[in-house]
Amino acid sequence: MSKVDVVLGTFYGDEGKGKIIDYISNNADVSIRCTGGNNAGHTITVNGKKFAFHLIPSGILNKNTKAIIGNGVVIDPKVLIEEIENLKQNGYSVDNLYISDKAHIIMPYHIMMDNLQEELRKDKKIGTTARGIGPAYSDKYERSGIRVEDFISERFEEIVRKNIERKNIIFKNYNKEEINADKVIQEYKEYANYLKGYVVDSVDMIHELLEQGKKVVCEGAQATLLDIDFGNYPYVTSSNPTIGGIITGTGISPKYIGEVYGVLKAYSSKVGEGMYITEQNNEIGDKIRELGHEYGTTTKRPRRCGWLDLVALKYAVRINGITSLAINHVDTIGKLDKIKLCVAYEYNGQKSMRFSTNIDYLNSCKPVYEEFEGNFGNLSGITKKEELPQNALKYLSRIEEIVGVPVKFIGIGADRDDMIIVK
Ligand code: GDP
Ligand code: IMO
Ligand code: MG
Repeated sequence: MSKVDVVLGTFYGDEGKGKIIDYISNNADVSIRCTGGNNAGHTITVNGKKFAFHLIPSGILNKNTKAIIGNGVVIDPKVLIEEIENLKQNGYSVDNLYISDKAHIIMPYHIMMDNLQEELRKDKKIGTTARGIGPAYSDKYERSGIRVEDFISERFEEIVRKNIERKNIIFKNYNKEEINADKVIQEYKEYANYLKGYVVDSVDMIHELLEQGKKVVCEGAQATLLDIDFGNYPYVTSSNPTIGGIITGTGISPKYIGEVYGVLKAYSSKVGEGMYITEQNNEIGDKIRELGHEYGTTTKRPRRCGWLDLVALKYAVRINGITSLAINHVDTIGKLDKIKLCVAYEYNGQKSMRFSTNIDYLNSCKPVYEEFEGNFGNLSGITKKEELPQNALKYLSRIEEIVGVPVKFIGIGADRDDMIIVK
């Protein structure tokens, strides 16, 4: 039976999922984006050239891999068209791109609503990417969303007019500019015309491919601690970036799931507001940010940086059934003299491995650190784990030991080839 391998973020996103997906989809027939939208930014560097994918599955760079945008995704058509055009200009084919008829469309009023809601939150902002993600998912669940199949049909105009009428009541109420329905309909009909050739019944297509024994990889976006159920609510995204989202975002049955790769960095980072227990809001965090170029792929915001938290990682392993770890930025952390690793929390004077996003619990926890020697030296060109310096091996072994999951990929640079694959 076909197996579906899954790549998921374990922390707050930007762990380097794109790079891992790019590698594993090299041997795959199909790669699928399952959840989220263009809040994601997945970077792949090929011979020094950087590609940032927001909606198109990163597997598209492999010319034999079909790239499907699954039903769980929310699509900003303008951004998708820009991505398609960018790939074409760089000589990549998009003939293998498919868009689910059941994915939802992000409309301009979703983006306006995202900004308005943040404004109304005043000093309690979530720090969203302002891409309209939350409002698009809200409409989906409230059943006034626009599916791709509606977007490319004659029904589109009527649905949009009704929606805009309702949204304009809210915008007017808050003294915001109202939306001109005619203008939006005209613009979005052009996008629909451009995209309609890519639209498929993705659920049927995926199952046909699985039944033919094709190898499928699923590309998670965002990450475990940004999950609407399992993350630091309300500082989360509006979907399930965990394993459940892979199932509902594609229609793939759990019986097909094979390897689940949990991606992390050798340190941690976060964009947006909310609790982050191992954050180093000091010169160490600043140093990690500069060494790791930790500025958002999507919003360019400086990322908050800190030490790796194994209590949270263990939680991600539990929630997602992670079978292997992919640790990126080992080169970056190795540039520090000393490295700290959070191996437990101190709660009520006791060591605890319990992670919970319960705010009162987390507020009462303090990280317990072990210290490691850094200065890994130049790692470029290393292809075997055994060739890594002892200091790096000690650090990686301790992570494996505490979390109980083997490390399969070790990232030692941003380029596609800067990766050690542990046999
Ligand atoms: P994603 O959202 O999980 O795909 O991750 P992003 O692409 O947003 O952020 C990861 C950043 O780290 C990108 O700029 C990558 O090019 C870079 N990167 C990934 N792996 C490594 C690594 O092992 N070392 C270094 N130095 N950079 C890496
Ligand atoms: P990738 O796939 C990092 C964060 C935002 C914000 C919160 C809610 O590249 O790892 P949203 O716009 O989704 O409503 O914002 O979620 N966020 C991400 N942070 N990487 C991402 O994706 C993210 N997608 C959303 O910064 O804190
Ligand atoms: Mg990213």
